[in-house]
Amino acid sequence: MFVLLVACVNEQTADPLDVTLRRTMARLAPEQDLANFQVPHHANLKDIPAGIGNPLTPEKVELGKMLFFETALGIDAVNPSGMQTFSCSSCHVPAAGFMPGASQGIADGAEGFGLNGEARRMRTDYNENQIDAQGARPLSMIGVAYVQNSMWAGRFGARFNNVGTEAVWGVSDPATEINFSGLDGLEAQNIEGTIAHRLRVSETLLDDLGYREMFDAAFYDWPVNARYGREAMSFALSAYIRTLMPYEAPYQAWLRGNDDAMTEQMKRGAMVFFSDGGCYRCHSGPALNGNTFQAVGVNDLCDVGGLATGLNDERNLGRGGFTRRPEDMYAFKVPQLYNLKDSPFYFHGSSHHSIRDVVEYFNAGTPENPRVPQERISPFFHPLSLTERQMDDLTEFITHGLFDPNLQRYVPESVLSGNCFPNNDPVSQVDLGCN
Ligand code: HEC
Ligand code: HEC
Repeated sequence: MFVLLVACVNEQTADPLDVTLRRTMARLAPEQDLANFQVPHHANLKDIPAGIGNPLTPEKVELGKMLFFETALGIDAVNPSGMQTFSCSSCHVPAAGFMPGASQGIADGAEGFGLNGEARRMRTDYNENQIDAQGARPLSMIGVAYVQNSMWAGRFGARFNNVGTEAVWGVSDPATEINFSGLDGLEAQNIEGTIAHRLRVSETLLDDLGYREMFDAAFYDWPVNARYGREAMSFALSAYIRTLMPYEAPYQAWLRGNDDAMTEQMKRGAMVFFSDGGCYRCHSGPALNGNTFQAVGVNDLCDVGGLATGLNDERNLGRGGFTRRPEDMYAFKVPQLYNLKDSPFYFHGSSHHSIRDVVEYFNAGTPENPRVPQERISPFFHPLSLTERQMDDLTEFITHGLFDPNLQRYVPESVLSGNCFPNNDPVSQVDLGCN
């Protein structure tokens, strides 16, 4: 009774647009509860999804926050010139929405940063086969706690969508052997990730850099012989990235009850997102990432000139490249939608360069990649007949309504080595103002 009364009062005083939007969203939410769209504050660790075996603690998060940016770990570079010049954040740049700020991320074997990652280029003393770059655009770290199986193909993680795919673990991609550990996507993947990205993990190195105390605080309950290894490193990195919540985005503030947090145009755009645009059929949940795999027929990174990739790159097959199931061919993970505007390279192949362009692609509903057979295309990808105004509104909702203006809170003041970060090569040092 009390609830009804409050709802009544609210509806009389509130902007009718707020009321319709809330009603529309409530119809789509589990148990009609709008809280299902909200992300917790980053310090509210108990409400953030944790991985199996990796309860979130402030000590782990604090350690991961350093390691993610620590360029001094980059000892396993291919050439001496690349040593200690890169980090996780070379490809996941906070100011670029934890994406690379470029069409492709390159860590070892590249130099330069520019303003936002856009000026990073292969070094002349490396060749294409030596650089650390993948055949798909890096995914964002925002809201990654809601990612059940990580990577565009969902290759990592023992649970959720990967139940039933055990037969291909370690087969289609040797790195996925790690799924037999039973770990969740992030924790499993980041064990492999430290190897793939040429980061050294050893007790002596951590001692030299001064990290032993932080590992002791974070993993006090682990046996000493495991405490400074790759698994501990992965767990700390995973704990940190799980806290990267877009809590300060206008849409999130609006969900918490501040009707003024979104402009009228953002609210109209949100209406399109949750109704006529049909976006929510795939982009669901607090991070709007959905945890399904869908083919929308976009081009691959080789089509836009990506390095170290080509037409035969397994990544072009999406989830099918991992599971080998015909129905998964060309299906890619539905990505989260926060803080997209600062890295204007959209889709796994970086084939679109403005959010408006992406909206128009979904509105047209025509696949651009001729290699993707029509029968693989998701039934939810079809012409939408949105008006120009609806497309403008939707673009505004995604560009600014889903934009957290303060990701800097997730970046450490400095790392223990004192090195420049996210990159530490001489060109980046100048770009980043490190000397
Ligand atoms: C050379 C660039 C590069 C570096 C360095 C890098 N990543 Fe990535 N990251 C990528 C790319 C590319 C993808 C997507 C690859 C794919 O799906 O095939 C990705 C995906 C991810 C994902 C999956 C997110 C999701 O939504 O599924 C996580 C988590 C991640 N990276 C964490 C890290 C961590 C932690 C580090 C440091 C150990 C790191 N990355 C270093 C390029 C990089
Ligand atoms: C059929 C499911 C589906 C529907 C419906 C859908 N999306 Fe997506 N969306 C995806 C998938 C899958 C990707 C990634 C595709 C890829 O890169 O191969 C994506 C990517 C995006 C991206 C780029 C994100 C990035 O990191 O590059 C944006 C922006 C986006 N969608 C917005 C929308 C909007 C707006 C709508 C509604 C008009 C919408 N989507 C409807 C599945 C969907």
